[in-house]
Amino acid sequence: MNTKIITINTEDIRPEDFDEAARILQEGGLVAFPTETVYGLGANALDEKASKKIYEAKGRPSDNPLIVHISEVKDIEALAKEIPEVAYQLAEVFWPGPLTMIFKKKDCVPYGTTGGLNTVAIRLPANQIARELIARSKVYIAAPSANISGKPSPTEAEHVINDLSGKIDMIIDGGKATLGLESTIVDLSEGQPMILRPGCITKKMLQNVIGNIDYDPAIMGKKLNKDLVPKAPGMKYRHYAPEGALTIYEGNTQLVIQAINQKSKEMLNEGHRVGIIATDETIEFYKYGIVMSIGSRKNEATIAAGLYRVLRDFDELHAEYIFTESFADNSLGQAIMNRLLKAAGYHVVKVDDLSKS
Ligand code: TXA
Ligand code: MG
Repeated sequence: MNTKIITINTEDIRPEDFDEAARILQEGGLVAFPTETVYGLGANALDEKASKKIYEAKGRPSDNPLIVHISEVKDIEALAKEIPEVAYQLAEVFWPGPLTMIFKKKDCVPYGTTGGLNTVAIRLPANQIARELIARSKVYIAAPSANISGKPSPTEAEHVINDLSGKIDMIIDGGKATLGLESTIVDLSEGQPMILRPGCITKKMLQNVIGNIDYDPAIMGKKLNKDLVPKAPGMKYRHYAPEGALTIYEGNTQLVIQAINQKSKEMLNEGHRVGIIATDETIEFYKYGIVMSIGSRKNEATIAAGLYRVLRDFDELHAEYIFTESFADNSLGQAIMNRLLKAAGYHVVKVDDLSKS
């Protein structure tokens, strides 16, 4: 299949920019497009055959449901039933934006889109290109992240081109995704709201609007808990993973730098290709391997925005071993560490323990 790539400038959006993409979606094809979180791979959510193509293109397990993207708050009523009042309170504050809400689904939403579940995940994105695409195509767009299943999510069109070129009809290049981490998912389908995936809308921000809310116990903690099954099926897979073996070094920064330097030297001497994920504040202290900064500790948002980019950059450089610093596990840091731990297959070295032994 020939994948058409078009560029749309957010500063200068013209209605005709969307004509071809809209036609492709209406005819059951696949269009990758930018959102403020990550790039999405879109298809008509109400067309089961179209959704199925998403799973094929990504190599995604069929039990992993898709998020349906809408362009106006009232669209939730076309897709969901028994919508609780808190949904409108959350929409008022966080939509358009990086929040996904889960409801009981209406019959019009096919099981092929919801991975066989009776619930549907819905998001109203803030990215102007995404919203125009939904509105102009008049299609509710089912869209997972536009990566090959298991790889880091794409934050630039180039990442999508690398993964899906030749497998989908069109890619809209709309520049970099500004946030860089997938949306926060909140389940509203059963009484007490619950966070199924941490993201840029933090627990605290949600609490300020709707009061008490907790994480799905299965997604928290620094180890994979085999006895708990996450409510968001996608959270159970090893995910976001680079090709090299990623290890997180945790503890006192000086000791982390020392430990990473030592390990990198060792691996280099054995003839391996080594990558190091540093920060703007620490990059100058690493002596071996290929060193890249993920962002600045003074601004956590830059770390969130840089995470998938560095993982993909190390793939391009064929790093066999990647060593990274760890980040504070609160607020936005919870989302960053959630993705980083999964990318590392929960492989963490605690340097304070090393220094004791
Ligand atoms: O920011 C985002 O959410 C991006 C952009 C493109 O909008 N999309 C995204 O989609 O991250 P994806 O498919 O990579 O992740 C969707 C997650 C999966 O973990 C999936 O299991 C969960 O949402 N999910 C979707 N529908 C669900 C449902 N009905 N119940 C529970 N979890 C659901
Ligand atoms: Mg994904």
